[in-house]
Amino acid sequence: MRHSKIVGTGHYLPERVVTNDDLSKMVDTNDEWIQQRTGICERHWASDDEAASDMAVCAANVALEDAGVSAEEIDFILCATVCADHYFPSTACIIQDRIGAGPIGASDLNAACSGFIYGLQMADALIRAGAHDTILLVGVEKLSVYIDFEKRDTAVLFGDGAGAVVLRAEEGEEGILSTYTGADGSAKEILWVPSGGSRTPITPENINDIERGMVMDGKALYKRAVASFVNSVENAMKNSGVSMEDIDLFIPHQANIRIIQSAATRLKFPEEKIFVNLDKTGNTSAASIPIALDQACRAGRVKKGDTILLAAFGAGLTWASAIIRW
Ligand code: UT7
Repeated sequence: MRHSKIVGTGHYLPERVVTNDDLSKMVDTNDEWIQQRTGICERHWASDDEAASDMAVCAANVALEDAGVSAEEIDFILCATVCADHYFPSTACIIQDRIGAGPIGASDLNAACSGFIYGLQMADALIRAGAHDTILLVGVEKLSVYIDFEKRDTAVLFGDGAGAVVLRAEEGEEGILSTYTGADGSAKEILWVPSGGSRTPITPENINDIERGMVMDGKALYKRAVASFVNSVENAMKNSGVSMEDIDLFIPHQANIRIIQSAATRLKFPEEKIFVNLDKTGNTSAASIPIALDQACRAGRVKKGDTILLAAFGAGLTWASAIIRW
């Protein structure tokens, strides 16, 4: 049956590395606390003149080269991000222009940290339906712009970067086997940027009184994150007929090593089959899984025929998972 296959991957991390010691000069924190509570040692932050689309284009070009696909062959672009260059046009439109693609459809999607897997589900559905044959899917974030340096709980967690994949129509056994997505908007205030949108525009009158950055209830999110991981993984298994024993590599959203370990324990999944890069990247939201996927491929952790599990959770709340036969 027609479905989609990932035929190329790429990622980009900005040059500037911010260590925990660097951060301790900006907020009241320290390397020991950050490592113990999160597993993060350093993260990359984009420069002032580097926007989401700049990182996205770098990752997209690497993925296209890896796939051996030219920009003209792409017939749809999806970009998962909460850090678009502008309110509009979409970052996907900017990518379409900058990579030299034809006048094809291009659109952003916002499912926060679950955005890449949401995008995978949409791309797979578009390809299955015959609407498109070759899709570029990018996850990109510049979360450093949302950091409120008075809030040390969020200031230490996030990094910038981009990851991309090229998906193509496939008739064989390989490719996306199943995807699963979920959301609970009643929990929107667990992680959000309260101001700057149409609900609370930033004005000269309110600029000093409102929350301008990210606000998070870390403890509540932690509990929901572990439960969401377990729930979405179990649902992806059910939908694909694949069991936990069949999984060769699990690439979870890279938020916190303790969340990953708790979910793995509850799923009885061996830690050696889990890919972790958050020590070097921090949480890059929608970019986290495609960056990790590309790094895993380039490190030889993904072999032809392997069964790969992806799972994410994030603001919304949203959660998602996917099972891929490589
Ligand atoms: O993609 C989704 C993104 N978000 C997440 O995944 C976040 C999920 N939540 C978490 O990862 C954890 O809740 C955190 C890492 C954010 C916090 O870890 P925690 O073990 O839940 O710490 P806590 O909030 O209970 O705080 C413990 C202590 C507090 O001090 P007191 O009240 O015990 O004196 C905090 O004020 O740690 C303090 N603290 C810090 N200390 C040093 C909070 N942030 C920091 C910090 N540096 N950066």
